[in-house]
Amino acid sequence: MRKVQPTEKRTTVASTFARRGRGVHGAGEPADAAGRAADIELAGVSKLFVTPSGSMFTALRDVDLAIGPGRFCAVVGPTGCGKSTTLTMVAGLDRPSAGVVRVGGRIVDGITAGTSFMFQADALLPWKTVLGNVALGPVFRGVQKREAQAQARDWVRRVGLAGFEDHHPHQLSGGMRKRVSLAAALINEPSILLMDEPFGALDVQTKAIMSNELLALWEQTRPSVIFVTHDLEEAIALADQVVVMTAGPGTVKAVYDIDLPRPRGAVQEIRFEPRFARIYQEIWDDLRDEVLVSYERSRRTGD
Ligand SMILES: Nc1ncnc2c1ncn2[C@@H]1O[C@H](COP(=O)(O)OP(=O)(O)OP(=O)(O)O)[C@@H](O)[C@H]1O
Ligand SMILES: [Mg+2]
Repeated sequence: MRKVQPTEKRTTVASTFARRGRGVHGAGEPADAAGRAADIELAGVSKLFVTPSGSMFTALRDVDLAIGPGRFCAVVGPTGCGKSTTLTMVAGLDRPSAGVVRVGGRIVDGITAGTSFMFQADALLPWKTVLGNVALGPVFRGVQKREAQAQARDWVRRVGLAGFEDHHPHQLSGGMRKRVSLAAALINEPSILLMDEPFGALDVQTKAIMSNELLALWEQTRPSVIFVTHDLEEAIALADQVVVMTAGPGTVKAVYDIDLPRPRGAVQEIRFEPRFARIYQEIWDDLRDEVLVSYERSRRTGD
């Protein structure tokens, strides 16, 4: 593992990627399928919001981040530091107040094409069945209904929900709804996959199964991924690069290249490797300070 200092982070991340080359299978290298995956870059990005009292609130401050095509980037940071806001701007659903977001070298100024976004909150259509929700992407892309449903059936099976095709979202558990969201995101074979705490609500076993499934699918198609999580173990087990954000206003505190070999195998087993523990300790030392700052602030506000 290598910690990339904030001052050198942009060039180093980019050059690390360039050194590894493209189109060759191996540790951290994108597969041929990633030829269509786009790189993501945030340069000097700040985001201000108007608060209910009318004042300006700085959610993000001067964020610089580069994610190479086909790379899996996990973002960790205290609650409220701007992780979801960052994803929203990469998706093109909101604009920075300063700085630019580029995808595939082009400044994002509309909805970012080829992107699937798994929102932090469930975003399923309550009046559609599981199958109907998962089939939405292909249907919108003009795939014939019968073919869209066949694809959806396959994805429902892959996320372990065979037999629940005709259920509606309110008839599912929280974890099952997350799995439907995952199938609905992956069925589109996105070149960019944005995931906002996708497994946060899952029990440990289901989370492990879903993480393994996600890794296997990512290794096949290699979209560029930004995966937001509060679970540092999950971040290290899955990602090529872990980004630690500061307490709000959020900025990038450090970027860690995770050089654990791929394929990683079962995420629940890689955690027991001594190397994994060392990586965890180093990143946690960075993250803990930010979590404490955030906690102290919220405690003072509550006094
Ligand atoms: N539309 C908005 N208007 C005003 N403030 C906002 C808006 N969206 C987000 N914020 C504020 O910006 C900050 C960052 O929010 P964001 O949702 O990005 O945090 P987060 O890192 O995703 O947190 P969590 O880990 O709890 O999901 C928060 O203080 C939040 O209150
Ligand atoms: Mg969030």
